[in-house]
Amino acid sequence: MQSERISAEFLIQNSRQQWADIQVLDRIDSTNNYLKNKSEARLVCLAEQQTGGRGRHGNQWRSPDAQNIYLSYSWEFETPPDHLGLLSLWVGIVLAKTLETFGLSEHGIKWPNDVYWRQQKMGGILIEGSNLSPVLVVGIGLNINMQNGAGIDQPWVSLSEALDKPVNRNHLLIAMLDALYEAMEEFGHMSPADLLRDWRRWDLIRDHAVSFMDNQELLQGKARGVSADGKLLVELPSGEVRPFSTAINTVRWK
Ligand code: BTN
Repeated sequence: MQSERISAEFLIQNSRQQWADIQVLDRIDSTNNYLKNKSEARLVCLAEQQTGGRGRHGNQWRSPDAQNIYLSYSWEFETPPDHLGLLSLWVGIVLAKTLETFGLSEHGIKWPNDVYWRQQKMGGILIEGSNLSPVLVVGIGLNINMQNGAGIDQPWVSLSEALDKPVNRNHLLIAMLDALYEAMEEFGHMSPADLLRDWRRWDLIRDHAVSFMDNQELLQGKARGVSADGKLLVELPSGEVRPFSTAINTVRWK
């Protein structure tokens, strides 16, 4: 489904926050790559299409034209907080909350920051460092009006399907850009305990069986929340609970 084009003018006029610039490109390899080659903070780059969209763990991010949201922004903390390792969880929480204000329910986050609705992936987050300066680049991909997911090797869903109506990306983007800016400012001085309390509400895999690779060994256990530094806590068959930061292979949802 083609949706209305994303309008930089609309976003600049309606965003209440102090983004240094908001750019909308027709086509780019990756909005994260684009911002990694700039040194300025508080820039927003959106694209209608990505020819080399990247996900975590070297995966591709399917990025067809004029259907979804491919958003990156650059950010610099005056003093990087000790809890910087929790940032990716925090961005996931903010996204989940924003989608809730947009009418979505039954969604949450699969550790560390995949947005899921009814056990299908709707969005993901990729945080990287700039090539030129200490700024961070936060990339967000959200399936919005996409109907053909050819090549995606896992269950996926679009927001319009979950809401059962077409989604106006410009309106959603205003909500996202305002919430993300506010949340990034808050992150620097927030207490990790508060963040982890919020996390609990959105954590979809807590108490579910998970399997993952650890040093070439397939381990299984039960997810038991996250550690203070954002690692996944897993209860192993021995009863021991240990933190892991490797990718999860499978989640037994039921
Ligand atoms: C994941 O779940 O693996 C993370 C996906 C992140 C995709 C977004 S789309 C905008 C930005 N540009 C990229 O190339 N990747 C991120």
